[in-house]
Amino acid sequence: MTTTILLDLKWENLKSDRTFRQAMPECQFINWADAESKKADLSQVKYAVVWGPEPGLLGRCSNLEAIFSVGAGVDHIFSDPDLPNLPIVRFVDPMLTGPMVEWVVLQVLMQVRQQRRYDQQQRDHQWGELPQPSAPKFRIGIMGFGELGQACAQQLLGFGFAMNAWSNSPKDVEGVTSYFGNDQLSEFLANTDILVSLLPLTQATTGIINQQLIDGLAKDGPFGAPIVINAGRGGSQVESDILSALQDGRLHGASLDVFETEPLPANSPLWDQPNLIITPHAAAMSDPDALAAHVANQIARHEDGRGLENLVDRSLGY
Ligand code: GLV
Repeated sequence: MTTTILLDLKWENLKSDRTFRQAMPECQFINWADAESKKADLSQVKYAVVWGPEPGLLGRCSNLEAIFSVGAGVDHIFSDPDLPNLPIVRFVDPMLTGPMVEWVVLQVLMQVRQQRRYDQQQRDHQWGELPQPSAPKFRIGIMGFGELGQACAQQLLGFGFAMNAWSNSPKDVEGVTSYFGNDQLSEFLANTDILVSLLPLTQATTGIINQQLIDGLAKDGPFGAPIVINAGRGGSQVESDILSALQDGRLHGASLDVFETEPLPANSPLWDQPNLIITPHAAAMSDPDALAAHVANQIARHEDGRGLENLVDRSLGY
């Protein structure tokens, strides 16, 4: 029997299902972006590949066996109130990890080397050197220390930064001091000059980057005020708290790729904050070919009994 795969992809770079058809020529596809697909018999669907699936859609696929996330995060799947209780596979691939590492390293270096201030000096035709503290003087704290966080830490260690990480459970990574659980959060923050958040969005992480957290960060670092970098989820940050800390100097700078509301509304005051770097949820886009190859590989594993990898733990929400 032909295997049927439902695609509800949303991302601009994934609009075409060509790469999926090429990677799995023996399968049949229902692309939810096509108006015609709405007439399809969803009881045939065995696998679904989704980003922000239409609420209730997965529940209507009565013979579904597994759900694949288009991205590393899965909060867009859990927001479906009728989500069936089936395995959910995260997208883990070097083609996603690489761009995330590039973005995080870029932002750390932009902040540490004060590039925004040099940009302003250039606009003002002003020549003037700014302080240049060396990398080992900065303590970087990564919140959310899974696949992506650990890959970022490896590159940042190469520059000589002092590395800390905070996660749910202890992590044993050479060169990185591990903090875990709520009990160790304040100690982690007090030892962090540059906070990098790669946290998944769960109940526990919603709004975690707020005034209290910002005020708990180290103030004795090279710039006398900490820096916040977030490429996890916008729902983890309280933007009004970040903005006021940037304005009154409690934060030296920030880089945000994710926002409470996306797209970031044109009238948001964040756009005009000089010590804030904004990118439009573009840190790491899923590569269509890599995603299709990953789904094909996981389906093959599932079908021949080797089992799915990178499964979401429902009790943790990621
Ligand atoms: C992007 O936001 C992802 O989850 O990969």
